[in-house]
Amino acid sequence: MNHRFSNTRKTRPNFTKYGAISCYHTEIMCGIFAYIGKPKSIKLALGWLQTLEYRGYDSCGVCFKTKKGLKIIKTVGGVDNLTKQLRTLNGVVSNRIIAHTRWATHGKVSTLNAHPHTSCNNEVAVVHNGIIENFNKIKSKLRNHKFTSQTDTELIAHLVEDEIKKNKSAKDIIKYLYNLIEGSYAIVIFLDSRDEIILLRKDCPLVVGLNNSEIYICSDSQAISNFVNRIIYLHNNTGAIIKENQIRFVNSLGLPVSVQEEAVQKHVENSGNKKYKHHMLHEIFEQENLIYTAINHRLKDLKNDGIIDFSRCSHDALSNVKRIVIFGCGTTYHACLYGSYLMRELLGIHTEAWIASELRYSKYIHSPNTLYIGISQSGETLDTLQIVWSLKERGEKVLGITNSPSSQLAKESDYVILMKAGREIGVAATKTYTAQLLELMFFTMMLAQKQKINTKFYIRPLEKLPAAVSNILKRHDEIRDLAEKFYRHKNYMFIGRKFNVPTAYEGALKLKEITYLHAEGYAGGEMKHGPIALVDKELITFAVAPEDPIFSKIESNISEIKSRGGKIICITTSKQLNTDEMFLIPTNHEFFYPLLCIIPLHLFAYHVADLLGREIDKPRNLAKSVTVE
Ligand code: M6R
Repeated sequence: MNHRFSNTRKTRPNFTKYGAISCYHTEIMCGIFAYIGKPKSIKLALGWLQTLEYRGYDSCGVCFKTKKGLKIIKTVGGVDNLTKQLRTLNGVVSNRIIAHTRWATHGKVSTLNAHPHTSCNNEVAVVHNGIIENFNKIKSKLRNHKFTSQTDTELIAHLVEDEIKKNKSAKDIIKYLYNLIEGSYAIVIFLDSRDEIILLRKDCPLVVGLNNSEIYICSDSQAISNFVNRIIYLHNNTGAIIKENQIRFVNSLGLPVSVQEEAVQKHVENSGNKKYKHHMLHEIFEQENLIYTAINHRLKDLKNDGIIDFSRCSHDALSNVKRIVIFGCGTTYHACLYGSYLMRELLGIHTEAWIASELRYSKYIHSPNTLYIGISQSGETLDTLQIVWSLKERGEKVLGITNSPSSQLAKESDYVILMKAGREIGVAATKTYTAQLLELMFFTMMLAQKQKINTKFYIRPLEKLPAAVSNILKRHDEIRDLAEKFYRHKNYMFIGRKFNVPTAYEGALKLKEITYLHAEGYAGGEMKHGPIALVDKELITFAVAPEDPIFSKIESNISEIKSRGGKIICITTSKQLNTDEMFLIPTNHEFFYPLLCIIPLHLFAYHVADLLGREIDKPRNLAKSVTVE
């Protein structure tokens, strides 16, 4: 049994026993950043911390070494709040900095609960991602310490303080902590009196970056890739001791281990977003180039009768697929659902789409020649990763589709498709959704080629997509006008049929995610089975209604809503449609409409959120990468 499943929470049933996909529970949101080297500006370090806010942004903190001991500044809210507090410290530098951004799981959002946490004598500072499962048991034995927060993390600072008093070496402290702490964690501990930094890692990502005499520590390799030469991905149960800018690696027994240094893949930053009010808007507009590039690249093979090339994706292993299971979460699940419609339709292969958190607790049913496809733009979504780990244990083959080459999904899948959408900063997924649709389209075409299905027919519609995207984006003022007209309404319905059921779900998710308005996505045919009861003059329904082979079906759904006094906005190719408002999109093949129809819906959500004055790039309660169950 893979170690990952031996860590199951005792309070939870062991579902694997009953044949479910997996059962492991952990909580690993939050971002860690630390720096050891020549003196650096604290403000600069906070800029680096800010790139980790996608892992959570409800509170944050920084600790740095000064001549008078450790200085700690913490705040509720994002890194901008911390930077404001640092105004009085303009120009301050330090050669030891540890910082953290939090997404609360245990203990409410408060300054006291923000990391770093310190020991009673203020000589030990700790930042931590993860959960200490035997926290209560250990805490009950630490009666001589004063706890100031509700977090499990603070415990580590007190434990280490006691060990220092006993004169224990760093490697002994690592051995002691690995032996004592149950759970999953990435931990950075600063021992001020010894000027030593200790790292521990179990099941939560932690990387060390090296650049001459500078050492960077981070929960995400991408965040430090531009200023280090080499990266070490710490393995589970590996610790590190940093002293005088030298680093030693040890195992959980404190014994020396060798680690592998990897050359760094430089990360190309988004540029040009200054032109846009928000990252989300910039990312929607970036699609024009991204879609053009992705389509041209893939179409070459299709046109030249070559099998579409997916590097890191062996063709031979994919030639005999009889069943496909696709899984992901949130917006990505909508892409999975689209993929399942497309694969069934074009390949005639039994294909299922699953919400990853549901598949985890469903019975695992083996059937030969099944291809599992895990999709995650971040490649770090825990529900998705857990399925991948579980499937690999069972000897199944997994294809990962991700936007992050250094992610756990990319590293642990048998085959990988990299989306190349560029980093998406806005929490709301937009360009990565269309990138997922594109990869699924071309991957399906590739499987079709292997089955000798004629794919030539799709070349022309695919060629037309980039111009269609440009056309939609050029008319984005029309969407702004619609948003201005309707943003005061509180309830929205999104409907679509077949390939555009996922579009309807996605339109609704995006609206609720960034505007906090109530929105539901439905398959149009389902309206009369219940949701039509909601229709009144206040309810706004978006109908995704391109002229595809079942256009008449969505037309009927639209009439049923209109005749009950509901307001309808149609995303359509037909000027003749009987609707209150419409946004016209260029004609294409039914397979590819979802890529076009979603853009006006994402734009609508954006403009409504903007008119309502929402925090568009960082909606409340959310994080970009959901690394908790
Ligand atoms: O990184 P992933 O693709 O695995 O993320 C999955 C979801 O958390 C994500 O799509 C989420 O629903 C977005 N915030 C939606 O905009």
